[in-house]
Amino acid sequence: MTSDSRFEPEELFWRARIFDSLSYPSVVIAPDKRLVGANKKFYDTYKLSSEDIIGKKCFQSFLYKDTPCDSKDCSISKVLENKAMHTYTVKHQYKWEERVFSPIFDDEGQVAFVIFSIRDITRTKSLENQLIGVKEFISRVIYSSASAIVAADRAGNIELMNSVAKELFGDYNGGEGKIKHTEQLYPPGKAKEIMKMLRNEKIGGKGKLLIPRTTIVNARGQEIEVEMSAAIIYDDTGEESATMAIYNDLKDKIKVERELKFTQKQLAQSEKMASLGQLAAGVAHEINNPLTGVLFYASLLLERQDLDEGAQEDLRYIVEDANRCKNIVKSLLVYSRSADSNKNIIQINEIVEQSLKLVRDQKKFRNIQIIRYLADEMMLINADTNKLNQVVINLIINAADAMKGSGKITLNTYKDKLHKKVFLEVKDTGEGILRENLSKIFDPFFTTKEVGKSTGLGLSIVYGIIEEHGGKISVKKTGVKGTSFILEFPLFIPEEEGLALCRPF
Ligand SMILES: Nc1ncnc2c1ncn2[C@@H]1O[C@H](COP(=O)(O)OP(=O)(O)O)[C@@H](O)[C@H]1O
Ligand SMILES: [Mg+2]
Repeated sequence: MTSDSRFEPEELFWRARIFDSLSYPSVVIAPDKRLVGANKKFYDTYKLSSEDIIGKKCFQSFLYKDTPCDSKDCSISKVLENKAMHTYTVKHQYKWEERVFSPIFDDEGQVAFVIFSIRDITRTKSLENQLIGVKEFISRVIYSSASAIVAADRAGNIELMNSVAKELFGDYNGGEGKIKHTEQLYPPGKAKEIMKMLRNEKIGGKGKLLIPRTTIVNARGQEIEVEMSAAIIYDDTGEESATMAIYNDLKDKIKVERELKFTQKQLAQSEKMASLGQLAAGVAHEINNPLTGVLFYASLLLERQDLDEGAQEDLRYIVEDANRCKNIVKSLLVYSRSADSNKNIIQINEIVEQSLKLVRDQKKFRNIQIIRYLADEMMLINADTNKLNQVVINLIINAADAMKGSGKITLNTYKDKLHKKVFLEVKDTGEGILRENLSKIFDPFFTTKEVGKSTGLGLSIVYGIIEEHGGKISVKKTGVKGTSFILEFPLFIPEEEGLALCRPF
């Protein structure tokens, strides 16, 4: 016991009462495992008196045994050996207890006694379990999110990547764990820029950032377009403790946007063609009448015998040029669909063969190889043969022009029975179409050829005829290796065949 003279009466008072005032049950045990005292809380809790325990060994009182426990299982031995506190937790019926064994040292620093306290930690334990539950729930939310989520510490070291993030950044299977720092997620310098924006209150608010479209880099160094939102995570004191970002791959969105743009472009093109068609039809009609007059009176004049040779020659030029004009007017009327059409059900291959017969012997095709891959099946279309011949001829003349007289033209037909379509592809090995001209080639009078040599009406007439047949024409591919045009027509299905298809057996 401490000598009284060392303490003032007040201190003596509280020192004497401190043990009994402890709010958890405590017992003092001597090194020989003898119980030498217990506090009031202990006696109250376990309904015992000092006679029940004082002088008895701990294993007798607490474990009802006659022999001491093995020293490796004995907490008293541990405190004596390590001269330090020892604790463990046990579940005792519905309660969780923390059992604390603390040394009481003598003046030489040896363990004179051990205080054994029993603390009820049921509430702490239940809070701990709740916390674990919440943590598990949050982790499940993060890991089952359809968005990629990445979290990093203040220094940018990545601490969490959910499975979508691992997949997006390619940091899985072979690449497991390759990405360690946020700088690896972006093109050079971008991570710092993002952190700067995150801290700028004027962009997205304090510690928040939303970028509708930005670029990230995956483990293979490929750039990917994403939508991203990022946030700084603050601790209770308002200090930055971590950052997190959510990414959504824009691949599908971009694809839809591109398709929409393409459709809009096609719509704009057909609208333009329709208005040009009306204009052309109007002009053609207007010119047709005076032109007929010019031709009529010039022909009349030509019949006069009293004109000299020179005048007659001039008149022949007038008639010749007026006839050229008439042909152009005729072409314009075809383009604007005003010319009559005469449709029949015909095999598309037959149209290709007929057209080739018409051009085959022309000088232009002498050094050109024409290859046909015509599918050997029924590919009927409802078509005006003459007009479609004109289409094929126009396309192969253009192809020959683009190849400067020598090369290879491939004509390919096939069908898509499911979608009821018939296709004709015309491919050449020519110089290709410049990107900036692609949107103009179907315009009337657009030509890149020598003035006077070509009218620039060919493809616009082709476009008109294909539209008239309920089909489509487009440039499938073009470049220095050549160009291929693809034509699409509705497949004609004879009635019996249609019925046969509908029959159940
Ligand atoms: N197969 C092709 N290869 C390269 N350019 C082509 C091809 N077909 C058409 N073109 C381009 O489209 C333009 C318009 O064609 P078209 O309407 O037939 O008029 P033209 O043949 O009288 O020039 C051509 O001048 C040419 O620049
Ligand atoms: Mg042409």
